[in-house]
Amino acid sequence: MIKIAILGFGVVGSGTAEVLTENKKIIEERLGTEYEIKYILDLRDFPESPFADRIVHDFNIILNDPEVTLVAEMMGGSHPAYDFSKACLEAGKSVVTSNKEVVSNFGVELCSIAAKKGVRYLFEASVGGGIPVIRPMQNDLASNKITKVCGILNGTTNYILTKMRDEGASFDSALKEAQKLGYAEANPSADVDGIDAARKIVILAALASGTLIPPKSIHTEGITAITLLDTKVAEALGCSIKLIGQAHIGDSGLTALVSPCMVRKTNPLSRIDDVFNGILIDANMVGEVMFYGPGAGKLPTASAVVADIIDVIAHLDSELKTINWSEAKECDLAPFDEFSIGRVFISKSEIAFPSGVKLEKQIKAEGAVAYLTAPITEKEAEEIKANSEILSCFRII
Ligand code: HSE
Repeated sequence: MIKIAILGFGVVGSGTAEVLTENKKIIEERLGTEYEIKYILDLRDFPESPFADRIVHDFNIILNDPEVTLVAEMMGGSHPAYDFSKACLEAGKSVVTSNKEVVSNFGVELCSIAAKKGVRYLFEASVGGGIPVIRPMQNDLASNKITKVCGILNGTTNYILTKMRDEGASFDSALKEAQKLGYAEANPSADVDGIDAARKIVILAALASGTLIPPKSIHTEGITAITLLDTKVAEALGCSIKLIGQAHIGDSGLTALVSPCMVRKTNPLSRIDDVFNGILIDANMVGEVMFYGPGAGKLPTASAVVADIIDVIAHLDSELKTINWSEAKECDLAPFDEFSIGRVFISKSEIAFPSGVKLEKQIKAEGAVAYLTAPITEKEAEEIKANSEILSCFRII
């Protein structure tokens, strides 16, 4: 009998208890092993919950119970989630988590402790909610060199942008709905300012390159400055605005960034709406693959957490290799100024572009002028912005 402890009984924690209970029979049949949820750690009491008898408030009860060999951390935030995870791993307990903040900041250390202790630290639910993407990257794409990861990595912002575009909803009302549906972070600034997507692209970039970049070191823009005019100009250009995380792994190093992008209708990411996420991966043998599904929400995310729980239980007696990540060194990161990508500039009046900039398209829409350029560097884009009256500027994919 495997005894499991859940840390945090919020949206994902309660979803995990629900999936483990609702599908107990089929999971146990598949595993040939029985399990039980022995403890649920939370500050609150849940007298009405069917799990009320499992609630504890003292982490040490879990840490010091040798019967508990598997801990699912769904507390959110760095502390005490990181400290508790570390303590569990050091005590020889495997840990699974949906906590992208902890994985993106402390993944190297926690994976290395897990390896030393012969236990597992798994985090399928930390990226893409219910979408299987971490395990496929580690296993099914293992024969490839991954050169690019590009995707919609945040369900809340995709939900907000879809509601604004399709229903003319205000930013605030769409955000409130996303909160009600359990998609948003406790502090939704992490969603709307691109921080959550940055943590996720850091994790995907680390899986692709073997190097974990500190999330704070990557260029991050959110969606709060997007206007109705931007949305309408995007339509006129045949694009959709999406918050995109991208990582490029080239000869000159790794570039990762998060920003709202105009996504061409020919790009499958343009058709991913609502809370759904989509991740495109370019790999040198298989070519381009895409992962798609619900990017946030109680049961989809819990489904991914329970997948990790099943993985741990299924391999309890095997010696599995743990991810080998290193901390990023300065030389691993390509100079961001030289990163080159097509741009859309929106202006009230005509812009005179430097002679080296190739224009692919120019349209007039909604009383503004929009220019679509061939790829230019970040440095060139900043110079154009500084020297012209630009209303908005988007990268285009
Ligand atoms: N707030 C996150 C999102 C939750 O909206 O994508 C899932 O990681």
